[in-house]
Amino acid sequence: MQIKWGDEHVSTYPADWLRAHRLTAADANNQISTSHFVLPARKHWQADGFPRDTNFSLPSLLKSEEKLQEFLLSMHEYGVALVRDCGTDEGAVKQLAEKVAFLRHTVFGLTWLIRVLPNPNSIAYTTYEAPMHIDLPYMDTPPGILMLHCLSQAPTGGLTYCTDGFHIAEQLRRDDPDTFRVLCDVPVTWSTHGHDSISNMDYYFQADAPVIELDRDGDVKTMRLNQVRSSFLKLDADKVARFYAALHTLSRMSCDARYRAAVRLEPGEMILIDNHRMLHGRSELDAAGAAVRCLSGGYMDWDLVVSRMRSQHKALAK
Ligand SMILES: [Fe+2]
Repeated sequence: MQIKWGDEHVSTYPADWLRAHRLTAADANNQISTSHFVLPARKHWQADGFPRDTNFSLPSLLKSEEKLQEFLLSMHEYGVALVRDCGTDEGAVKQLAEKVAFLRHTVFGLTWLIRVLPNPNSIAYTTYEAPMHIDLPYMDTPPGILMLHCLSQAPTGGLTYCTDGFHIAEQLRRDDPDTFRVLCDVPVTWSTHGHDSISNMDYYFQADAPVIELDRDGDVKTMRLNQVRSSFLKLDADKVARFYAALHTLSRMSCDARYRAAVRLEPGEMILIDNHRMLHGRSELDAAGAAVRCLSGGYMDWDLVVSRMRSQHKALAK
């Protein structure tokens, strides 16, 4: 179609463009536009549906744009992805992140090591079982993706736990809507302060957000579960017991064997975890494990990762 405007300017609109831009439901627009990138629908899973059998290796992701795209799409679908053949030297986290986009810098550095430390400022650096949580809930936008590369593993214990937070939230919405509503409505003050010895910086982070945050369509957008809650609760006294009961219900579900997958990372393997969706944790370590286990970690943000997927979709479609 051509339109000749009053100032003689002529605009040309191809038929497929007009069809893709017709005024109708947004989803229909996306489906009929071949050039438009649509993120794949998320596949929620329970413990037995954890995507263990993926076949992604670091060399193949660094070499092939198609493989990298397949990997990123899969990570978005399942909220978690395993990468093999990463070697056992530090550097694989940075290498993969920089192939995709960038690492997210935090007060804890660009990358960091998780091992048992003498003066820990986080449960991650102890031998204790780490309860199910997301990382850095005290930021307005917590990091989107947590990357953990296993450099050396404990002989026993030190399992990585993963629970699909979106799945258990939907279970609650269906089976216990009152609890779901409380977790969506009550603002929690997430807060932590301390000193990071590697960046040599004091920090004091704080953010108010509910445990289950919804987007404007009512879909779950971000889960927040962590021990780093402030001792203040902005809630009327008669509602406090109900809030703690709801938090307890969700915490119990996050550890339930039906929902929680246990993964033993072997040296040379990396796991990527959607930190807005997955709840993760770690089983406790014994003395032998404490002496040996070491993971290298880093973060990426979804904005950059989805931008990469969109650009790549456009490039691969040519
Ligand atoms: Fe963590």
